[in-house]
Amino acid sequence: MKIAQRFKDFPAYSPIEPFEVLSARIGKRPEEIIKLDANENPYGPCTAALQALTDTRVYHIYPDPESRALRAALQKFTGVPIQYLMAGSGADELIDLILRVLLEPGDTVINCPPTFGMYPFDTRLNAGQVIDIPRNADFSIDIEAIEITVKNNQPKVIFVTSPNNPDGSLLSKADLLHLLKLPLLVVLDEAYLEFTGDCVAAWRENSCMGWVQNFNNLVVLRTFSKWAGLAGLRVGYGAFPLWLMSVLWVAKQPYNVNVAASQAAIASLQSLEELIPNVNKLRSERERLWQLLQNIPFINPYPSQANFILCALEDVSGTELKHYLISKGIFIRTYDTPNLRNTIRISVGRPAQTVQLISALEEYQ
Ligand SMILES: Cc1ncc(COP(=O)(O)O)c(C=O)c1O
Repeated sequence: MKIAQRFKDFPAYSPIEPFEVLSARIGKRPEEIIKLDANENPYGPCTAALQALTDTRVYHIYPDPESRALRAALQKFTGVPIQYLMAGSGADELIDLILRVLLEPGDTVINCPPTFGMYPFDTRLNAGQVIDIPRNADFSIDIEAIEITVKNNQPKVIFVTSPNNPDGSLLSKADLLHLLKLPLLVVLDEAYLEFTGDCVAAWRENSCMGWVQNFNNLVVLRTFSKWAGLAGLRVGYGAFPLWLMSVLWVAKQPYNVNVAASQAAIASLQSLEELIPNVNKLRSERERLWQLLQNIPFINPYPSQANFILCALEDVSGTELKHYLISKGIFIRTYDTPNLRNTIRISVGRPAQTVQLISALEEYQ
């Protein structure tokens, strides 16, 4: 039996490791670990989500394949009609699903690095070819190069992210409108959108999810992993044009959103008064962390609209700094790619975690 050719030298995705693995590796207790490497929410799920997980009594019954209760709650939350909405096992599942239904072997997909690694990973997984169009120095997308590539290569899909991971910059609405005029599907990933504003009205204003009703070539993805602290439960959602919805319903795994994830997500949408203050704590901590990082001589932080800060390093090695911080129980993410040389990304944590991080950085060298 032979495996498919494309898996012979397949570049594996390197996922972030959980507390227990990290703590076992460095001989510290999980509660001593300061995990600032995966943009998780240190405040965790809301009380009602935790309560829903223990109160639920239907774990022996398969979940609703259409996630009806969750989608109805999302309609109220986003203002987007339910027929445009689909839930998934994280936004990650929806990225894969979109490519699964659209790509024929060899079809091309535009990726704009530096950005989230799942877009090229899922493209290759689904037998597509990635065309990288690097971002400009300020992390905006290179519209001109994208237009040329669309003309020459007829890509089927482009992925754009706002705020972008790893730098936290926003996609301008003008750039999005530009892309929407091109003959390809634009997938806008808004995983960190909630960190751009301080209330539901601001989130609606900043999100382009409602635009799917007017643009046949736009998909917008969001998630409960970041603002609602449900990363471990895997629940995300997207708004899709109706022609795409009909095929996604056919192609998705029937029970893709499990009962626990669905209950916790619905409870989160009913607990905005508890969750929004956590988002706002992270927003103000982001500004405080940014100021403090400015005072570290070898760190140049970029401005960010998300729950993480990208930093260029001067005269120190990212890998060495990462290992030094690990010895203190602090985990961050490093990058050293052609588009992002010697750079680190720090997720925003609780104020006490910022204090420990900054004092470790002050002691460095
Ligand atoms: C830009 C972006 N999109 C999507 C995701 C994944 O979201 P989910 O946890 O809902 O799969 C991440 C996770 O880090 C991300 O950075």
